[in-house]
Amino acid sequence: MYVYRYVASPFITLHISTTFGHLSSSTTFTLASAIMPLELHKLSSDEEFPALVDGLWRGYAEPFNGFWEILKGPTQEECTERYKSWHKADPTSHWLYVTDSETKKVVGAMQWNVFETNPYINGPPSLPAYWWPEGPLKEISEQLFAAFFAGRPSKCGQPHVLISYCFTDPKYRHKGVASLAMEWGIHKSEELDLDAFVESTEDGRGFYEAHGFEVLDELHLDAGVDSPSAEFTQRRRELQLPLHGFFMKRRCGANKSA
Ligand SMILES: CC(C)(COP(=O)(O)OP(=O)(O)OC[C@H]1O[C@@H](n2cnc3c(N)ncnc32)[C@H](O)[C@@H]1OP(=O)(O)O)[C@@H](O)C(=O)NCCC(=O)NCCS
Repeated sequence: MYVYRYVASPFITLHISTTFGHLSSSTTFTLASAIMPLELHKLSSDEEFPALVDGLWRGYAEPFNGFWEILKGPTQEECTERYKSWHKADPTSHWLYVTDSETKKVVGAMQWNVFETNPYINGPPSLPAYWWPEGPLKEISEQLFAAFFAGRPSKCGQPHVLISYCFTDPKYRHKGVASLAMEWGIHKSEELDLDAFVESTEDGRGFYEAHGFEVLDELHLDAGVDSPSAEFTQRRRELQLPLHGFFMKRRCGANKSA
């Protein structure tokens, strides 16, 4: 087993060893903190999905995130099955998650997609929101997904690594949780000589900048129809549209400041 182990306190970080190059699917990294011990895991079994998705629901709850609201679906159970099936159907998907080794709870995670060839040769991905019943919420979801994916072929139509999800439980923020999972992807990007990309929320921008990402473009996502129904207008308001974010890139080899 290859172990990334160091001791961290608010005042000192002692780096003992790092061997990311030969990471196997069952590898665990340990960050023994003076405040709380954290462990980084690479998801490798179906059994890990309920705890991962439980973490997703807690991690994205704050601040309100309209894009997550449409992705999470009607129930946590449905969401768990769907995220499991998406991951299993996608050989580019790698879920890294962090647990508090005292409570065993998932306190943060990141999904990295490693595209060794250009995934957008046939155009942007399309995502039908089949988890919602027919109606305004499904319509809005599909318009937002189309707007979200539309820029991908021109902005990252090349082999690359991509952060698709990134969250930390609000109670665990600013303790290095997301940085643990970031290290895995940055190492992969350097190893394969691929640039890294992310569509960031407003809240995530500072975190990505601290890891060498730069803003390439802004994202403004919205949905609309002619003569919207009262429900369409209400859903749009509830989701706090339009959504604003940033398309960001980390050049392979860029220096980190965090
Ligand atoms: C963005 C997020 C994942 C960061 O997670 P985290 O575990 O708190 O991040 P880390 O502790 O590893 O942060 C490392 C460094 O990144 C920077 N950073 C982290 N969050 C930041 C923020 N909100 N604003 C500015 N800089 C930030 C800081 O330099 C931080 O170091 P510091 O704590 O010593 O100041 C977390 O705030 C979150 O889950 N936000 C809500 C969900 C979200 O918007 N995710 C991004 C989706 S694209």
